Amino acid sequence: MTDVQEAQRATGCPFSEKAQAFDPFGAEYQFDPAEALRWSREQEPVFYASSLGYWVVSRYDDIKAIFRDNIAFSPAIALEKITPVSQEAIDALNGYGYAMNRTLVNEDEPQHTERRRALMSHFEPARLEGHEEMVRRLTREALDRIVDRGEADLVDEMLWEIPLTVALHFLGVPEDDMAKLREFSVAHTVNTWGRPTKEEQVGVAHAVGKFWQYSGQVLEKMRANPDMPGWMPYAIRKQKELPEVVTDSYLHSMMMAIIVAAHETTAHASANMFRRLLENRELWDEVCAAPSLIPNTVEECLRHSGSVVAWRRIATKPVTVGGVDLPEGAKILMVTASANHDPRQFENPDELDIFRDNTTDHLTFGYGSHQCMGKNLARLEMRIFLEEFTRRLPHMELVEQEFTFVPNTSFRGPEHLLVRWDPAKNPERTDPQAREPRLRFEVGAPNASALSRPVVVAEREEIAEGVVRLSLADPKGRDLPRWSAGGHVDLLFGDYERKYSLCGDPARTDRLQIAVLREPESRGGSVWLHDNLQPGTELSFRGPKNHFPLDEHAERYVLIAGGIGITPILAMADRLKHLGKDYELHYAGRTRAKMAFLDRLMADHGERLNVYSGDEGRRMDLTGLAGGYEVGRQVYACGPDRLLDAIGAVCADWPEGALHVEHFTAGASLLDPEHEQPFEAELADSGFTVTVAADQTLLDALRAAGIDVASDCEEGLCGTCEVGVLDGDVDHRDKVLSAAEHRESKRLMACCSRGKGKLRLAL
Ligand code: HEM
Ligand code: FES
Repeated sequence: MTDVQEAQRATGCPFSEKAQAFDPFGAEYQFDPAEALRWSREQEPVFYASSLGYWVVSRYDDIKAIFRDNIAFSPAIALEKITPVSQEAIDALNGYGYAMNRTLVNEDEPQHTERRRALMSHFEPARLEGHEEMVRRLTREALDRIVDRGEADLVDEMLWEIPLTVALHFLGVPEDDMAKLREFSVAHTVNTWGRPTKEEQVGVAHAVGKFWQYSGQVLEKMRANPDMPGWMPYAIRKQKELPEVVTDSYLHSMMMAIIVAAHETTAHASANMFRRLLENRELWDEVCAAPSLIPNTVEECLRHSGSVVAWRRIATKPVTVGGVDLPEGAKILMVTASANHDPRQFENPDELDIFRDNTTDHLTFGYGSHQCMGKNLARLEMRIFLEEFTRRLPHMELVEQEFTFVPNTSFRGPEHLLVRWDPAKNPERTDPQAREPRLRFEVGAPNASALSRPVVVAEREEIAEGVVRLSLADPKGRDLPRWSAGGHVDLLFGDYERKYSLCGDPARTDRLQIAVLREPESRGGSVWLHDNLQPGTELSFRGPKNHFPLDEHAERYVLIAGGIGITPILAMADRLKHLGKDYELHYAGRTRAKMAFLDRLMADHGERLNVYSGDEGRRMDLTGLAGGYEVGRQVYACGPDRLLDAIGAVCADWPEGALHVEHFTAGASLLDPEHEQPFEAELADSGFTVTVAADQTLLDALRAAGIDVASDCEEGLCGTCEVGVLDGDVDHRDKVLSAAEHRESKRLMACCSRGKGKLRLAL
């Protein structure tokens, strides 16, 4: 029995003391909602907060499951006032004719999806590219105003104004009354998600009422001239086409809600991002030095310190969340900031890790059919802010200050962010080029394959004829990421990018070790590497990743290596020895002199090792080696394609999971537009259908529709782009899933596999 359960039994209350004491308006939650709910994530992930009248949910999987099912968990209360207001405040609001109703974010099905579909086109990545120039210009102008001054409040001087200007431009709303709109937005936040006192409620009500009227007036102006550019005039035009889908009430409510949704969220997220990076100076410096890190850094800041920290749903029937039964009508507060710090989903979740490769899984934009439509506009703005600042003010630092927040459950960002720098050190004073942008960003989720960590060659040793062993270290002496047997890195050097298996000691975090064969016949990477990499050379890598993992639960193992294929096999042999497993190791090469690691293998695996070298006339007998299939025995092989093909032929009728081979090339699985057929994919969680053209991958089509799917190799080798399949025939082309998994067809790799006809996917 846990402490919580014991305490509950003692008091007779089904919820712990901590649950009863939970106060989302208290200092702890306001300052750091993820930290304030650490106890809940660990001990009581679903609890009733009586002070709020809401069920609070704090774990990643539970929250994602709620987002997934927008029928059982309706978003209808997303914009409801979380604090009941006084009659006086209601009267004040009524005086303005306030009638905030359904928008998109709080609309139920089927109306929601019809509306979203009708209004989506302006948010598609290709359309958003048009906004980049404006964001760039506004950011440069704001920086020009402050750059020689040496200090600024970034929130007051640009982080509100720019997202608001961009939002108004996107919406087609005239850019007047900016200060008033900021005041209105704060009032709307307090009105919806805050706990104003009775006295404050009336003031807030007047501001919200005026905001309502202002929105109505803007709408009227637009109706008089519906051909104006922008999303709202587009919605007005759509109303003529689909009057029951785009209603009057929707347009007015949306006008007000979207002004807030589009700018306050982005302003807060940007302030959080600058704060966190400047607090972690090493990371800030790293981004200054390598701007290609910016998209993933932005995403990691959205995960670590997002601007929307909690969102709401209401149960439309009795439901079970995280094993707890909730009645129909239960109001639910999903603390997404807590989900984003759930160690079950994110390694070292409290660390800001700008190299994290699953950071896009965060829930700051929600998930599923209501997922934020403006996420790519927000990303675009934040990337440009960071690019301009890290280039023009790399020496900027935080002023010591106490951060304050507008108390509310859901929107989080500091009200002020004071920074300073020495203008005499501004790079543009000595190098006018420093004013010029260095990078353009693609619209959409960050691409993990664009991430790389710097390393330096620490040691280089010839370990066999034509084979060098390289030890790689972090240039600043920091720990390198951990890896497991069978893992590899993608090394970037010169104009090359190549995969190399890791073969050192996985327990050492100060070194990564690879061995490289000089292959003059191949595409040139290994020759360049042999000729150019010396101790002290700087290069970078991605990973480590593991597409060839070792199942540690078998009884016996046969490890087979051909030539340089020994590298992952060596790591596997070391691991199996460490685990005390029964294994045999077979290693073939042309000549002994060319076979890497022979001495080391003999010393560490002597009695298990069998060496076959061509110059000694010993050949590997694969049929004898692999023998027939044996229950409990697994075979792992790495080497040239002809070796792997021969092993595949010997083991062709073995059950799945008995033979594992490492492929470094995709073969003929990739897109061949001349011979492909287009197909449709219905997305069950998002509620719409994408068409995949003949010259497109499913991954491309999903991204073009604004769906974030992580990817890495984009060749069907790594498993990163896996998507659940609910229905339909799949033409599987990956090398990740086994033949049995292909037959079962519960999952597919979106980067290469296609539908034979329509597919239904869990997205
Ligand atoms: C919905 C967050 C920026 C437009 C949402 C939702 C969240 C969110 C949590 C609800 C998702 C759900 O229920 O699953 C954010 C954050 C932003 C941001 C953190 C900035 C960092 C924007 C921008 C725009 C925008 C810039 C518009 C230009 C919308 C719309 C919806 C929405 C239209 C409703 C979608 C629907 O219900 O179908 N956003 N948002 N957001 N957001 Fe954003
Ligand atoms: Fe690697 Fe698709 S991205 S399998």
